[in-house]
Amino acid sequence: MSHLQQARPDARHEEGRTAVRLRDGALATLRPLERGETAPLLAVFAGMSADARALRYLTGLPRLPQPMMSMLSDVDGDRHVAWLATVEDEPAGIARYVRLPGCPTTAEVAFEVVDHQHGRGLATVLLDAVTTVAAARGVRRVRATLHPSNTPSKHLLARVGADTRLVDGLLEADGPLRLLEPPSVDRSAVVRLACRRSWDVTLDIG
Ligand SMILES: CC(C)(COP(=O)(O)OP(=O)(O)OC[C@H]1O[C@@H](n2cnc3c(N)ncnc32)[C@H](O)[C@@H]1OP(=O)(O)O)[C@@H](O)C(=O)NCCC(=O)NCCS
Repeated sequence: MSHLQQARPDARHEEGRTAVRLRDGALATLRPLERGETAPLLAVFAGMSADARALRYLTGLPRLPQPMMSMLSDVDGDRHVAWLATVEDEPAGIARYVRLPGCPTTAEVAFEVVDHQHGRGLATVLLDAVTTVAAARGVRRVRATLHPSNTPSKHLLARVGADTRLVDGLLEADGPLRLLEPPSVDRSAVVRLACRRSWDVTLDIG
């Protein structure tokens, strides 16, 4: 049975976050990253090996440069949305989408999970959360750029509709957004949380 089939929405919700039970029975919580919030970014980055950082950022990165940190924390709930997963009160992973400037119904997605939490289904639930918000916000297409060795990411992206092709030595993933089936998060709770912030609007997840 796959991670996603085993991970399932959990009925328990704390204020401002939603809980999800991972395939091994552990609880994770998910919440939107706040604008300008950098501590979880740094914590997740610190929990990633050099190889994992290279897969995420496609370059060697011993530390997160300030301009990149500013860019990664510049979320606004619509153009740029990021969600944080926490396990036992520790930041464990982040996923995001950013709309393309010239084509706002297409969004670039990216995600990372601290090394010691790999394989528990965290990227799956994070990707489910951000693609749920993306779909509700009118994003219709997703894309990403991957290192050719990044099998888990390629697999995950294919599940949300982005197929890959090799371009100049990198994998370009692109396709019409479809939500993960079956859902691994409580999508109503995700949309409610996405609406709670300053960017309050009614979202339609269809
Ligand atoms: C890619 C990454 C986010 C996956 O995180 P994760 O929490 O371990 O992923 P999950 O447990 O949700 O597993 C996702 C899928 O990948 C598969 N997978 C996980 N590790 C794998 C591996 N080493 N080899 C092959 N498949 C793997 C899982 O089986 C799962 O597939 P399923 O849905 O059929 O069960 C994590 O490895 C990471 O942070 N890598 C470095 C950063 C990165 O590559 N980011 C993506 C670039 S945008």
